[in-house]
Formats: sequence, C-alpha cells, structure tokens
Amino acid sequence: MSPVHAPQNSVADGPALEDVTLLIFGASGDLTARKLIPALFQLWRKGFLSDRAAIIGVARREKSDDEFRNEMQAAVASDQQDEWQRFAQLLFYREADLSDEEHAARLRDAVEEIERRRNLTGQRVVYLATAPDLFLPSVEALSTAGMIPRGPDKERLRVVVEKPFGHDLASAQELTASLSRLLSEQQIYRIDHYLGKETVQNILLFRFGNAIFEPLFNRTHVDHVQITVAESQGMERGRGGYYDRSGALRDVLQNHVLQLLCLVSMEPPALFRGDYIRDEKLKVLQALRPGREDGSIDDWAVRGQYAAGQVDGERAVAYLDEDRIPAGSRRETYVAMEVQIDNWRWAGVPFYLRTGKRLPQRVSEIAIQFKRPPLNLFTTVECEGNLCKMVETRPNTLIFRIQPHESISLAISTKRPGMQYQVHPVEMDMEYHDAFDIEIPEAYERLLLDVMRGDSTLFTRSDELEAAWQFVTPVLEAWEASDEAPELYASGTWGPKGSEQLIRRSGRAWRRPGSDPKSK
Ligand code: BG6
Repeated sequence: MSPVHAPQNSVADGPALEDVTLLIFGASGDLTARKLIPALFQLWRKGFLSDRAAIIGVARREKSDDEFRNEMQAAVASDQQDEWQRFAQLLFYREADLSDEEHAARLRDAVEEIERRRNLTGQRVVYLATAPDLFLPSVEALSTAGMIPRGPDKERLRVVVEKPFGHDLASAQELTASLSRLLSEQQIYRIDHYLGKETVQNILLFRFGNAIFEPLFNRTHVDHVQITVAESQGMERGRGGYYDRSGALRDVLQNHVLQLLCLVSMEPPALFRGDYIRDEKLKVLQALRPGREDGSIDDWAVRGQYAAGQVDGERAVAYLDEDRIPAGSRRETYVAMEVQIDNWRWAGVPFYLRTGKRLPQRVSEIAIQFKRPPLNLFTTVECEGNLCKMVETRPNTLIFRIQPHESISLAISTKRPGMQYQVHPVEMDMEYHDAFDIEIPEAYERLLLDVMRGDSTLFTRSDELEAAWQFVTPVLEAWEASDEAPELYASGTWGPKGSEQLIRRSGRAWRRPGSDPKSK
C-alpha cells in the first residue's frame, strides 16, 4: 500500500485558552448582543477563551461597564446565568466617537489600562460591527491613536470587517485600497458568516474526504445544481433602512450564495490551508458566466419584491409597508439566476441560484441533481399503503442541507418490495443530530476563534471579494438604472413567476424544500 501523505491542518483541534483583547466597535448594534457576545460566551464556556481576556464594547453612547453587561445578558439562556456572572467580568464598555482624535487617544489609554490590570500581552482583535461608512474612519482612528503595530509586531492587531464590504465593484476596490494603506491583507478578516457554519465547512470535507462522490462532481454526471437560501422573515428588528440600500443581490447572493457555489464546485486544494482554498475559490469566481450570454440580463437573472401574504400562518405586510422603506421603493427582496462555470469540470452545467425574503420557510441547501439513467427500464411509483400512482423517474440528487435540520442526503431509486419491478424513490440520510451527540456551534463562535488563532481560511480574501462584485455589479447597475419595478410575489410563496420561467425554459424545475418532511 502506498504511504498516505498527511497534510498538516492549519487549525488545532483541542481547546487552547486565548488571551486576547477584543474591541467591538459599534457595540450598541444588534449584531453585538445577538451574535458576538453569545458566541464569545460559548467560547469561554468551552475553554477557548481565558479568564484574563478582555472584551471591550465601544460606541458613542454613554454607558457603564455594568450597564453594558446587563444589556448583553438578555441573549443568554436562563440555565447559564451563573456562568454568565463569571463571564461578565470579561466585559467592559468605553464610549468613543472615533472621528474625534481625542476620543481615539482616550480609548487607547483605556485599553492599555485594562490590559495592564489583566496582565494581557497586547494581542488585539478589533471587530468592526459599525455601519459600513465607519469601517475606514475606525481604522484611521486606530492609526492616529498609534494602535496599529508596525514591523514584525504587525499581526498583533487583527481587524475583522463585517459585511457589506463595499456596495459594488468600485467601492469594494476603493475600500480595499484605503485599508491596505494602513493594514496588511493578513491583518484583515472579512467576515462571511456562512463560512462559519458547520454544514458549510462540511461541504469540503464531504467532497475531499470521501473518494466515491468527487469523481461524479462534473459535467459528465451532473445535470444541474440548485443553491437556495430562503428566508421566511421580512424586515424585522428595524432592518428596513439597511436593506433598502442593499437588496437581495447584495445582501445574500453576492456573498453567501456565491461562497456556497465556490465550495461545491471548486477543485481540490493542494493543502487544506487558507490560501490554497481561497485560490481555488477565486478560480471559480473568475470562471463565472451568465447562464445565457447572448441576450439581456433578464434572460438569466430575475428579481422580485414581496407583496402582502401569509407566512407561517401569520399575515405578512408588503415590503413597501414595512418600517423605514421609502414609498415606491424598487428594491428587490428576491433574486434568482442561472449561471455557468466556464471550466473543464463544469462547462455546460447550469447552476441555479435563488435567495429571498418572506418565502414559505427558512431553508438553505445545495442540491446536486445527477443525470438520469440512459434507459427507463422500470416504472417509478409513489405509494400510500397499497395505493400506488405512477410518477416520473426521480433523478439521483445529493442534498447538502445547511439549515435547518442539518443533513446530507442522497435520493436514490430502489425496488419496492412486491411481485413487480417497481422503482420507489427513497433518501439515504446523514442527519447531524442523529450522527453526532454534539451541539453544532454557532457560525460566529468558529469565526471569532479563528481570528484569535490567526487562521484566515474561513474569511474572504480581497481578490475573491472583487471577483464576486465584478460578476454581480453589471446586474445591480442594470436593475438600478431600470424604470421597471421588480415583479411582485405574495409573501409565503416561492418567489415571482419569472423565477419559474427562468428554470422552466431548460425543462427543469425548482425543488420545493417545503414538500420534504425534514424541512418542516
Ligand atoms: C445576513 C443578511 O448576512 O444573513 C440577512 O444580512 C440574512 O439579511 C442573514 O437574514 C441570513 O443568515 P442566516 O444565518 O440566518 O441564514
């Protein structure tokens, strides 16, 4: 047997206590209370964060440490309150308006003072959870306050940038250029929280850790791929103001959906390390083409906006009637696209992408539909008890269910027991909750830990991000220049009619995750 080459993994498995000062800029925002602090609390509970670590919330509002601690406590489960009391000692709050040099200097002194008291060595992470127009001014403030180390000490400071990183290609390039005057690429961690999801990470493990599936992932065997990020929610938590400047294409497709596309279609990296993986993802984005190149954008990209309807048995108002949405807004809340990856592996295989708000349910999945058997030798039936009806042959489909009910399943045909040769479609399932007696960590836990460890594998590199913007920007510009409003769809339905036509043109149909009992 030939020796197996065992590449070194970039991430240690066991808990290692991180002594770190973490500054959260924009600490009054929703993200800090809902995601960041709960994730840090779990990391601390699991032994990944030391008792000496300091987490310093920074925002303009005046607040004491105790007030900040109390506000953050709301997101913690009631049975974890005792532990919370100990964890809360790691939390601090300092008020600062970072556009003011004096405030920045005061913040620096306060941080140094906390670090001295806690015997911290100055390993710092700054999390930019602010509005996007404050990303650059915040880093400039760090620079004027002398908080950006130089030379070999540079990486003692790491800066996490939340989305959106730019609002089109030009603004993303501009932000990258301005930040790179102050920080090196290795210091910048651009977050796409989808990459922190356990099930998303498993796509690469599944593909490159098993020998039997990967040989099928190509144009010879795959008919098409569908990627769905569906949400039932609308503009909760006052998000309308942000969302109306963004829309489904910028908010979810440009980042989360394209990242999923990269992971499911990229070539195996030579090593399982950050830049090797990011190089392969970049190649996918560079090979990305419209599904139809001969006509207009409308031939391969469809947008919609939700009208009133019913979701989960509750009345839902139209997008235009949501809080903070300007009258007559033409912002899209749904987008579907047919795209292709113009390389040797995938040429000719359509990838259908869709994402939207106020759809019937929250479900994210990737479905790889394989080609049908060349000959239909059997009748396919679906039966209830002894009552069977003939149905169309079901193609084999491999489904990565990212959320909820995390699973990987393979739809196959099998013989229905009986005296006839009848095919019955069944699913082979790997459900995370059955397979592992381990709680699935929240995406932000993994991502925050990776920043502290200095592992950028799950973060987006600037060239990747630009390639993604490069692909979507012409669509954004065409839609923003158009006088036409997006097609309406009733809340609680699977999007506008145009999206059905988009896929039906090639004789295919969208999957209905709702008809699958697991998704209920
Ligand atoms: C965020 C978007 O990036 O992702 C939100 O800004 C969206 O609009 C969210 O709701 C979806 O994330 P998840 O983890 O709930 O699927």
